[in-house]
Amino acid sequence: MTRQPNTEDQHDMQAFTQSEAAFAHALSVFPDGTSRVTIERDPIPKYMERGEGAYLFDVDGNRYLDLNGNFTTLIHGHAFKPVVEAVYRQLASGSCFANPTLMEIELASILCERIPNVDRVRFVNTGTEAVMFAIKAARAFTGKAGIAKFEGAYHGAYDWVEVSQSATPENWGPGDDPVSVPLYKGMPESVLDETLVLRFNHTELLEKQLQAHAHRIAAVVIDPMPSRAGLIAPNPSFLEALHQLCRHHGVLIIADEVLNLRQGYHGASARYGLKPDLITMGKIIGGGLPIGAIGGREEVMQVFSAKSGRPLVSQGGTFSANPLSIVAGIAAMRALDKAAFALLEGLGNRLRANLADIIAQHDAPFAVTGAGSLFRIHPTRSKPREFRDTATNPAQNAVLRTLSRFFSRHGVILPNGAASCLSTPMGEIEVDTISDLFRLFLQEHSADINSMEKPE
Ligand SMILES: Cc1ncc(COP(=O)(O)O)c(C=O)c1O
Repeated sequence: MTRQPNTEDQHDMQAFTQSEAAFAHALSVFPDGTSRVTIERDPIPKYMERGEGAYLFDVDGNRYLDLNGNFTTLIHGHAFKPVVEAVYRQLASGSCFANPTLMEIELASILCERIPNVDRVRFVNTGTEAVMFAIKAARAFTGKAGIAKFEGAYHGAYDWVEVSQSATPENWGPGDDPVSVPLYKGMPESVLDETLVLRFNHTELLEKQLQAHAHRIAAVVIDPMPSRAGLIAPNPSFLEALHQLCRHHGVLIIADEVLNLRQGYHGASARYGLKPDLITMGKIIGGGLPIGAIGGREEVMQVFSAKSGRPLVSQGGTFSANPLSIVAGIAAMRALDKAAFALLEGLGNRLRANLADIIAQHDAPFAVTGAGSLFRIHPTRSKPREFRDTATNPAQNAVLRTLSRFFSRHGVILPNGAASCLSTPMGEIEVDTISDLFRLFLQEHSADINSMEKPE
């Protein structure tokens, strides 16, 4: 049974006076009024007061169903009770020590037990740091400096993985020879030279590029389903070729699962048959507190070991393995049992199927990608196969913005141009709310949508 969403235009009831005042003040203390580039501001950011389960409440008292979940971190939603209680308890016993704790062994054990190819772990504070140290580990293990990454894929803020993160049709170069595109003016030429840009799911090109460059490449960094590059699944034959080529040429595979670990109890590499040497994790394993982790094969992880003197890679960090993040992570991961993943899988399948049906019924120029608890809506008739297929023109960008704005007006936060996610406090009601709203959007905005397909 589908329900019509409350078609009364929530926008008329939504007020943003407190957010407007906050943003005016914020402009005097932050370069553009925000402290993260990823903050949505349409036209101003909505300042949040609190979160509860699947919902967020802004400072003006508006309520939203949260499909962002702090960029896919909050797999149990907001203020998840076991996490809140664990953090309160730990806070009263001390927030950080220059000594190890029993808890860090417990969280590391959960990861080693669940995630194939994770024999050993090191904790850090962000996904960026995890990716950075995994790359340093691969360099130290192989003695090579270069890395390879996929065009359009996001891996955090370490320079080498930022290359071609935001490539465009104007600068990404020929299909059979992708250009290393700098993310910012002044990015060192040496970083661009040391970063080989690959194309996801392009097996022949991968063979050609690795044959030519493997002698200088320490690792291929691959997110099994890169969110910003389209949230597209890897082809099995492509992964098989990747394994063979990397093994043959002495190149390590780093699976960046900072976002996609949430795809299953054993993570995303296990789901798609990828066999990495190192895995980077973050987001869900900290239960909503800052965290990152590098895991991997014992032989490779030994680069971090100081057992016989100075380690090959010196990895520390004042707040690494801090007890607050660790206890929050244990509470979140313990609650993420196989039943929880089955629930998320079922909800995700239902939502993606609903959206695809609605698109077909309206013969609308949209497609849906994703897996598990993740989904992304594209303004194209067929699903993109890789990053270059996700490039949008101004009319498509305008429709995506309108879609996000429409959802927000109806009390749902739908990220624009990135993965949206479900969380364990959600159920069929939330899935149907999202589906019904999308149907209403197609009905109310058919003129805008049709304009996307008109020749410019
Ligand atoms: C795949 C991937 N890698 C790395 C990162 C960086 O993680 P963090 O923001 O914790 O530094 C992200 C963050 O969104 C990510 O999605």
